[in-house]
This record gives sequence, C-alpha cells and structure tokens, in this order.
Amino acid sequence: MDYRIDVLIDADTLAERVRELGQTIEKEYRDSGEIILVGLLRGSAVFMADLARHIGLDARFDFMVVSSYGSSMESSRDVQIKKDLEEEIRGRHVIIVEDIIDTGYTLEKVRDFLQLRKPASLKICTLLDKPERREVKVPVDYAGFTIPDVFVIGYGIDYAQKHRNLPYLGKVVPLES
Ligand code: IMP
Ligand code: MG
Repeated sequence: MDYRIDVLIDADTLAERVRELGQTIEKEYRDSGEIILVGLLRGSAVFMADLARHIGLDARFDFMVVSSYGSSMESSRDVQIKKDLEEEIRGRHVIIVEDIIDTGYTLEKVRDFLQLRKPASLKICTLLDKPERREVKVPVDYAGFTIPDVFVIGYGIDYAQKHRNLPYLGKVVPLES
C-alpha cells in the first residue's frame, strides 16, 4: 500500500500535553510514595521516557510485551502476554503506560492480569484515545489526546515497525493506485 504521512499532532503540542500529564500524576501521587510505571512495549517507550521526566516522584520502570497487530492495521482481539513484569507489584501503586487505546482489548487484558496481583492501586495512562473504536469498556484515568478513527504513527508508534522515531504524531493516508 502506498501512503502519505500527514502531521496530526506536532512535537511541541505533544511535549506540552505530556508535561501536563506528568504534572497531574505527580500531584495525585504526591502522598503515595513510590510508584511503578509499567510501559507496554514497544509503542509506549518514547511517551514513557518523556512522561516520566515530568513526574517529580520516585518512579520505578517496568515493561511488558503484549501481542500486537503484526503488520496489519487491524487489532487482533486475542491479546497474549509475551513478557511479564520483573517487579513485584503487590501493595504498590502501578500506572500502566500505553500509546493508544483503540478497541480496548489490550488494556482490558493487561489490567485484569495485573489486578490479580493486588497492587495498592492500578491506573491507566494512555497518550491517545480513539473512543469511536472501543469494543470493551476500560477505565482510562489519564489520556493525552482524544483522536478520531485514523491510523497514526510516530512518537514511538509504528506501522509495520516503521516510523517509530518520527518526533511528531503522523496520520497514515492511503493513496489511490
Ligand atoms: P486495542 O487492543 O485495540 O485497544 O489496541 C491497542 C494497540 O493497538 C495499541 O497499543 C497499538 O499498539 C495498536 N494500535 C491501535 N491503533 C493504532 C494506530 O493508529 N497506529 C498504530 N498502532 C495502533
Ligand atoms: Mg501497543
């Protein structure tokens, strides 16, 4: 498929919103002691790196790998946990950091999976929310931007493993051929 990339959210706008999210999280967890940020690889890596530096609290990092799209643009629905946490989360304050919530299947699965370990609290922070596409209800505690039903890339997010290092958020526009 031939496609063009249009800018959806520029780098400055991303940076400003990510800073606000970090500050909000800092305020809400000020009295909670240490938190654990759980990034879902690979899409959340860039977002988490920026977000974490705006949270002026002790934050541990951990990561999970959950099965993704492969090289298509469709969600697989059958979400598999491919890499579990290294840290013990029982009794701790956990924030799942995700790039996009689309159908909701990924975050529903990860949330249920981590909830079984009885963290002190478990919240979800996503850079992007595509509410029009939601198929299962998941509580989103922090969301950077609500976007329409378009396929996005950049700022950590890929299309068939490409474009993750674009500094802005782009929209994939298929070209007629
Ligand atoms: P969900 O399980 O349908 O909510 O899918 C969430 C995952 O699908 C995200 O973590 C992304 O990895 C991927 N995804 C959803 N929308 C897009 C997109 O527009 N571009 C790239 N990946 C996407
Ligand atoms: Mg993802």
